[in-house]
Amino acid sequence: MHNNVLILDFGSQYTQLIARRVRELNIYCEIHPFNKIPEDLSGFKAVILSGSPFSVRADDAPHPDLSQIRKKLPVLAVCYGAQYLAHFNGGKVEASEIREYGRANLSVIKDDEMLFGDITENSQVWMSHSDTIKELPENGVRLASTPDVINAAYRIDGEETYAIQFHPEVYHSTDGKQLLENFLVKIAKVAQEWTPEAFVDMTVEDLKKQIGDDKVVLGLSGGVDSTVAAVLLHKAIGKNLYCIFVNNGLLRKNEFESVLDQYKHMGLNVRGVDASARFLEALAGISDPEGKRKAIGKTFIDVFDDEAHRIQDVKFLAQGTIYPDVIESVSVNGPSVTIKSHHNVGGLPAYMKLKVVEPLRMLFKDEVRRVGAELEIDKELLGRHPFPGPGLAIRILGDITPEKVRILQEVDAIFINGLKEWMLYDKVWQAGAILLPVNSVGVMGDERTYEKVVALRAVESTDGMTADWVNLPYDFLQKTSNTIINRVKGVNRVVYDISSKPPATIEWE
Ligand code: XMP
Repeated sequence: MHNNVLILDFGSQYTQLIARRVRELNIYCEIHPFNKIPEDLSGFKAVILSGSPFSVRADDAPHPDLSQIRKKLPVLAVCYGAQYLAHFNGGKVEASEIREYGRANLSVIKDDEMLFGDITENSQVWMSHSDTIKELPENGVRLASTPDVINAAYRIDGEETYAIQFHPEVYHSTDGKQLLENFLVKIAKVAQEWTPEAFVDMTVEDLKKQIGDDKVVLGLSGGVDSTVAAVLLHKAIGKNLYCIFVNNGLLRKNEFESVLDQYKHMGLNVRGVDASARFLEALAGISDPEGKRKAIGKTFIDVFDDEAHRIQDVKFLAQGTIYPDVIESVSVNGPSVTIKSHHNVGGLPAYMKLKVVEPLRMLFKDEVRRVGAELEIDKELLGRHPFPGPGLAIRILGDITPEKVRILQEVDAIFINGLKEWMLYDKVWQAGAILLPVNSVGVMGDERTYEKVVALRAVESTDGMTADWVNLPYDFLQKTSNTIINRVKGVNRVVYDISSKPPATIEWE
């Protein structure tokens, strides 16, 4: 890919955000770990150095050799990157006496400098660092300050190297996007040609070349990623794409039939496989959450394998993998701990000997949606909340029975349809109901009841990594609770989950 921007990751929590902001400018970029600078830089037009949780003064901090890059490509060094350039080139970086976190305003700006074009005095920026640049590096020219940070931005004379102490990628840096545009478009002269339309054209051509006349099998889940991947492949290879949509018996109410119908209307060559009984059998008596995930994962592979074998001479397995799953992360605290084992099609048996094709592997989630819109996929399908692979199994706490699935499907349908009727669905990132493994006492008419409790959960989030509960209107909650208790036999109490993530997770299991 020409017109590519290289983002060197030093382990900052904001690195992916830099990439997303760059992509919003219709510019393609890739994140690479600081210690794996690509040998061939010919496709790259500019480099951004990310922030980092490290202090440049620490011995174990990232200290890569940038001689391959500097003076050859325009560089924008952010936060740690700015300190790194100063520290090793004759400047001075020290622990700061005052905390430099949060909002600040740029007080002195050299607005005749290209980097600050169209950015005015007092522009708000976001700081997050404990070291500060006391002295600029050799040939450093100060470009901006804040009341607390004298060297908030500088450039190095005689080369196209720029450095900023603040984070242009975060929302609170009001002119952050303008600054990135100034650097990438005005200074580095990168073309803004990464559009959904260009992506579709390029990907369809690549898929045609890669696949030729071979057959491809793909597991559809009803979610955005697998759907967009399928439509792209369909555009490239038509009927040679064989889609399999498995009903694991743990989908939302009526979802299997309605989504299958939608897929058929889209012209996809799709086979619906109702394997509910097989899944429920595999789950019988298992209460442990990881045990449930494993049973579902294994059964999925068995079912998918059976179906894929019916297709003669299939050569490729397509997956809806997206960029956040692919980025090699810089380990800051040692290997990351697996909190929950997420189930996907990745574990297909090696004997299937299928080559993998992943048309979305360079896209962020919001880009997948934009590509989906470009492909004219139904808005409702594209706007669907995420839904976990193991489905309702991890929202029924404890063991799974057909009766519990039925109860939860009814409750979930009332909640989700209610959100849609009250125009709240699109304001929520993810919502669902959880069936608790406790009974509570109630009265209905003259009778005492001893029935199930359900919890409702609705969260706002951008990527599911952090989330907060949504302040749904009391009227809506009241109406929903009444409807559930009146209509769903076996439930006599509804509660609303008001926990944020962290420390809670979105799913209860
Ligand atoms: P947690 O519960 O970890 O969820 O806060 C974050 C996001 O991941 C989804 N999730 C899963 N997705 N298989 C999946 O495909 C799983 O086992 C799984 N567990 C959680 C969850 O719905 C939320 O969007």
